[in-house]
Amino acid sequence: MSHQAVSASGTDSRTPEDPIITIRNASVRFEMDKGSSTVLNDVNLDIYRGETLGVVGESGSGKSMFADALLDAVVDPGILTGEIRYHPEHGDPVDVLGLKPWELRELRWETISMVFQGAMSAFNPTMSIGEHFEETLEAHGWDRGEGMERARQLFTDLHLDPERMLRSFPHELSGGQKQRALIALSLILEPEVLVMDEPTAALDLLMQRSILNLLYDIKDKYDLTLVFISHDLPIISGFADRLAVMYAFEFAEIGRANDVLGNASHPYTRALLKSTPNLETPLSEMRPIEGESPDPVNHPDGCSYHPRCPLADERCAQDDPAFRPVEEGHEVRCHYWDEAADAVPLDFGGDEQ
Ligand SMILES: Nc1ncnc2c1ncn2[C@@H]1O[C@H](COP(=O)(O)OP(=O)(O)OP(=O)(O)O)[C@@H](O)[C@H]1O
Ligand code: SF4
Ligand SMILES: [Mg+2]
Repeated sequence: MSHQAVSASGTDSRTPEDPIITIRNASVRFEMDKGSSTVLNDVNLDIYRGETLGVVGESGSGKSMFADALLDAVVDPGILTGEIRYHPEHGDPVDVLGLKPWELRELRWETISMVFQGAMSAFNPTMSIGEHFEETLEAHGWDRGEGMERARQLFTDLHLDPERMLRSFPHELSGGQKQRALIALSLILEPEVLVMDEPTAALDLLMQRSILNLLYDIKDKYDLTLVFISHDLPIISGFADRLAVMYAFEFAEIGRANDVLGNASHPYTRALLKSTPNLETPLSEMRPIEGESPDPVNHPDGCSYHPRCPLADERCAQDDPAFRPVEEGHEVRCHYWDEAADAVPLDFGGDEQ
């Protein structure tokens, strides 16, 4: 199938990449007593087939809303608008927000699978891990024998003893084992895309790295497109092909991970990097970024980062910047991106490894 690749800005610049999911003008709104709360603000992004995309941003920036939007899984009474399309390798694009409930249920497991934030606690404590797999296979009308064979293979590939895992109850497993069981479960119906929202947040640093390494290793075997969502830039930066930096419910900078890290062009991305003395730093030792996180009810006029940005001027307070190219495949939403490096120097000093 051939279709036009549209850049993150929603303009028509062609790229050689092949999008598997396209997101256009996606917004999420909650009507609340204190006013209308916009928690995803007109987001545009392409996810490329076979890539590992890292979505990074501070807590409350809208990362989970973005993940939920991909699968039309925003909780009530949130209102999701815009367009999310899944592009199969062969055949017509699928309009995700137009699917019937049963079609959406199928898409969620068999095409785009999601490990939701905090999902480790979602295991049913009265069911063995094996029963969780059987239940999922049955609910989707899949062959149990073949499915359980795949489950065993997945556990083996994730360096766990399949028989032991399938027999175990959730409380008998360590955090790392439970997380890998969740990953195996999310892959049981052969999805093409695996979205993981803070997949490792509850685990220690070593375990986080080892799980991401395992995922990286099995990605090609299972022909996966991976979307990692995390507030932890050091963890995510080592694994992602591309990074999408989220600030105030929208993307601020998108590009190849090397470009975004090596040539960070949004003052917020630079502040995020600066708050990370080096990319090996545990999150607990990171320095916070100065200023208040944005309020979803009262979005500032102009650039959403202007209340915190050292480069902000009148123009920034009035005009919301559009995406503009820094280099091929690297885009940034900032009026003064070419001044960001001088305004927000990265004083890694001797700490950098
Ligand atoms: N059910 C809800 N109703 C109203 N507002 C919500 C709801 N869930 C989340 N929000 C708000 O939406 C905004 C974005 O939240 P989101 O959970 O997407 O952030 P996040 O980037 O995933 O944060 P974290 O890193 O802490 O997981 C926040 O301001 C949050 O308070
Ligand atoms: S547009 Fe202005 S306020 Fe926004 S990030 Fe760029 S310099 Fe800062
Ligand atoms: Mg979240």
